[in-house]
Amino acid sequence: MALKDNSSQNRWSSRWLFVLAAAGSAVGLGNIWKFPYIAGENGGGAFVLIYLVCIALVGIPIMISEVLMGREGRSSPIHTMRILAKKAGRSQRWALLGWLGVMTGFLILSYYAVIAGWAINYFWLTANGTFDGAGGDFVAQAFTDLQADPMRMVAYQTAFMVVTIWIVGRGVTAGLERAIQWFMPALFILLVVLLIYSFNSGGFAQGWAFMFDLKWDAVGPEAWLIAMGQAFFTLSLGMGTMMAYGAYVPEDARLSTTVVTIALLDTVVAIAAGLAIFPIVFANGLEVSQGPGLTFVTLPLAFGQMPFGAFFGAVFFILISFAAITSAISLTEPALAYLTEEYNAKRQRVAISLGVVCWVLGLGTVFSFNIWSDVFVVGELNFFGFVDYLSQNIMLPLGGMLITIFAAWLLPRDMINRQLGISSPAVSWAWRIVAGILAPLGVLAIFIYTVWPLIQNLFNL
Ligand code: TRP
Repeated sequence: MALKDNSSQNRWSSRWLFVLAAAGSAVGLGNIWKFPYIAGENGGGAFVLIYLVCIALVGIPIMISEVLMGREGRSSPIHTMRILAKKAGRSQRWALLGWLGVMTGFLILSYYAVIAGWAINYFWLTANGTFDGAGGDFVAQAFTDLQADPMRMVAYQTAFMVVTIWIVGRGVTAGLERAIQWFMPALFILLVVLLIYSFNSGGFAQGWAFMFDLKWDAVGPEAWLIAMGQAFFTLSLGMGTMMAYGAYVPEDARLSTTVVTIALLDTVVAIAAGLAIFPIVFANGLEVSQGPGLTFVTLPLAFGQMPFGAFFGAVFFILISFAAITSAISLTEPALAYLTEEYNAKRQRVAISLGVVCWVLGLGTVFSFNIWSDVFVVGELNFFGFVDYLSQNIMLPLGGMLITIFAAWLLPRDMINRQLGISSPAVSWAWRIVAGILAPLGVLAIFIYTVWPLIQNLFNL
């Protein structure tokens, strides 16, 4: 079959647009509802330091590997793996790594759209003043009602998918770049607005202490694994997203500094999200909670108690929706690029077909919260639990490990040195040690840590 190099068709207009697009992929639900909470719970400032080490030693090397492979292959991850395996004289089976990424993207997007749909729904609810002055029971009930209502969930999931597919169908320049140029600045402005609000909320000192006090006694060995898993997910690694985006990176962009900028932006947003959220929670004397509970119960309750809460609550939910959209478009890119190359098909058509399949898969997640909530796929995991576990805990780490090993050990050394602009042998060795040993070992640790309970669970059945 023909290996098509679509290098002349698709290219980011500038290095900066790649930075924004990759940051858009990285900044998502993970930054806003996951990072702040796990940081606060696992040692505050101490955790933030550990997290930074993981970003530097595991996240950045894997991201550099993905982007450099993408830029060398200049195709979708599946074709890129074929091209690189050929150049390196390795088995064509490495293309399976590309397939793994495509499947993972599908699975993640299918439920990402459902959760993002909740955020869009909550934008309307808060903007309409639904939670103004409401009590805890009312807010909790509203969230329970949403989850019990498959029709409402499907409506918002559909809206989110339609927007995502419409954007990606338009192509890299007219679709992705245009959307990113709107959404990313908007996201930063919304975040600053929320930060100013939370600074004046009366809970800022407490929120700051929750996130930054160096609570070393709360740091266990687990904190390292949690930090590593988070570093990995938040940077969108392990499924070829960055490889697909890397295929469009201009030749003259310096990969190392570019990737460091992306990781920094992602980290700044995660920390800023914490500083925006916790003061609002503490100012109202509420307990911090995690994930959906924090986002869809605690925060609406807090906003409902505060002056101009409806406005700032709406700002918060629009912020989440924007962050989710720029991540969602990146989840489709590996599959979309592959199908358009392989079948020489119109991007728009491929996007629509992809969207429909993903939407149908997402219905499983919608029903997992109501009519299928007790239908278990494996152990105690219902459909959503299973898809979430499989994609995040098994497929992503597996993909990430294979990617770094391939990049560090199997690619010709002169190719890596040329892509990274390395001229000294010492730096070349340092790269191999960090990307080829430290990073895969880090991922292996997460992998064993997360898969172990599942294995135990399976054998106890
Ligand atoms: N990074 C996103 C977040 O923090 C999620 C995401 C988008 C992702 N694309 C990805 C995760 C690709 C892994 C792989 O929410």
